[in-house]
Amino acid sequence: MTWDNARADAIIEAHKALDGAALPILHALQKEFGYIDDAAIEPVAKALNLSRAEIHGVVTFYHDFRATKPGRHVLRVCRAEACQSRGADALVEHASARAKGHDAALTLEPVFCLGLCATAPAAMLDGELHGRLTQTRLDTLIDGCVR
Ligand code: FES
Repeated sequence: MTWDNARADAIIEAHKALDGAALPILHALQKEFGYIDDAAIEPVAKALNLSRAEIHGVVTFYHDFRATKPGRHVLRVCRAEACQSRGADALVEHASARAKGHDAALTLEPVFCLGLCATAPAAMLDGELHGRLTQTRLDTLIDGCVR
């Protein structure tokens, strides 16, 4: 969904009374829009009586939050130890090269362990897990996104 300040304000209003409301608000905004637009920082800070820097810090600290609109598909390749030892770095390099110029279709993100260590290297495409990745299998996943 395209960013909508009025809808964002309604989400902030609906969550601001919760204990530790910053994370629930930010998760709800990301669930609605796919990312947290810069325009949300000030209203969230105001609603929680916090500074803009504090909210911005939360958004940038947590890997799960995105500050820019993602592509139609999100490919998260695991960069943690087991996957790294099975060639994940080379796969990430390959995926980055393939994703270049396809920003609207595919967003590539790092993730640190998907719980598929036994079948490393692993990735998650649009929430679906894939283990025992090879360059060929990765190409098949990417082809399905960028065509
Ligand atoms: S280290 Fe990659 S899935 Fe656990």
